[in-house]
Amino acid sequence: MAKRLGVGFVGAGFVTKFHIRSFVGVRDADVVAVASPRKEKAAEAAALARSLGVGEANAYADVREMVRDPAVQAIWVCSPNPTRIEVMEKIAEAGRNKIVGIACEKPLARNVREAKKVLDLSRGFLTGYLENQVFMPAITRGKEIVWRRGAASAGRPYLARCAEEHGGPHEPWFWSGKDQGGGVLNDMMCHSLEAARHLATSPGTRDLTPATVSAEIASLKWTRPEYAAILKKRNAFDFAARPVEDFARASVSWRTPEGRPVITEASTSWSFVGPGLRLSFELMGPEYFMQGNSLESELKVFFSREVKGTGGEDIVEKQTAEQGLMPVVTDEESAYGYTAENRHMVRRFLEGKTPDETFEDGLRVTQLLMACYMSAERGAKLAFPPAGLDEYEPPAAKGTFRPDDVFRGAR
Ligand SMILES: NC(=O)c1ccc[n+]([C@@H]2O[C@H](COP(=O)([O-])OP(=O)(O)OC[C@H]3O[C@@H](n4cnc5c(N)ncnc54)[C@H](O)[C@@H]3O)[C@@H](O)[C@H]2O)c1
Repeated sequence: MAKRLGVGFVGAGFVTKFHIRSFVGVRDADVVAVASPRKEKAAEAAALARSLGVGEANAYADVREMVRDPAVQAIWVCSPNPTRIEVMEKIAEAGRNKIVGIACEKPLARNVREAKKVLDLSRGFLTGYLENQVFMPAITRGKEIVWRRGAASAGRPYLARCAEEHGGPHEPWFWSGKDQGGGVLNDMMCHSLEAARHLATSPGTRDLTPATVSAEIASLKWTRPEYAAILKKRNAFDFAARPVEDFARASVSWRTPEGRPVITEASTSWSFVGPGLRLSFELMGPEYFMQGNSLESELKVFFSREVKGTGGEDIVEKQTAEQGLMPVVTDEESAYGYTAENRHMVRRFLEGKTPDETFEDGLRVTQLLMACYMSAERGAKLAFPPAGLDEYEPPAAKGTFRPDDVFRGAR
């Protein structure tokens, strides 16, 4: 077994920088390369790695060239959703018999057809699906305590609720249904569905089988004319003409091996205005429950109206204010799960073993997401898997989503 893993990043944006900062807490890997078509951005991320002492990273404009770099043994795919297949084709071609493992950010792809293609291209490599929330210390520790004490004594949990909410994404491509693959449901419910499934699943198993899916999508804020105008200006395309949903909720029922029901509820929003990113989760069983909320943090700061300064994200991710009493997430890379996730992926790749979250899991999540969209579009609860899942594309991806779709299917 090699002692250290050389990691190369595809993409040099927001999430790559989060990962690079988290490598401060990963002992047995080095960030050795970053590739982005905008080489100056790759150089910026590589400089971040060097400045943090997590690797003597080189910058590349070409993904294939980076994959061929002798120092690169594993790839973290962190480029935008529409580039998944193109990037995987390049890694599969240039990295065969050289690259040990490929880790890919959520979502695995924009729809089931693309996710299956990504999975096909990954054959022969170890794969890791980068679902950071499954590795959040609050989730792993909460799950461990609840299952060891509560479930062992009183029976398994029957309800898990997860939510992710903030005021909307940072880059224009997230707001384009065609590029991103949908709206907030595709972008963020992938987290909440998988985190809730993970909490409700017996440790070390995959003992829940999805049975039914019921979901709803809506545009609550960003199609209001004054907000659509803000997006048009910010993103240089007409959001009102091709809107995407900014709110989604879903309920999935699962069967345990004994045939008993478990329900997971997920709620996601780009229309939440609070101090910043809010991740919340609950797990309930016959004699216990657990709850967590990333904004109920150990530290708060207060700035009076006399304090003047520029807007930023220096206090919490997706921060919306600089005044009043504000929660601070002191170590975001750790609190959101990136550090533990990367430690896990690195160890498994070094040991030549399959990580706990793989591309197969990414495909499963995409299948559930598409079933949620189908349910919302039809205004109906669906048995899982519904027919036609492989060919399905969400309304926002096709440009057919309308803000009043939420009223559909009511009887
Ligand atoms: N786990 C999380 O919570 C989380 C958070 C944010 C983003 N993400 C996911 O990470 C991915 C990237 O998101 P982001 O916020 O960093 O986006 P971003 O727009 O900030 O950065 C994307 C980067 O990819 C580069 N890029 C563009 N096209 C490319 C191509 N063809 N080949 C290689 N690089 C290319 C861009 O130059 C840029 O550096 C997305 O899939 C997103 O869903 C996950």
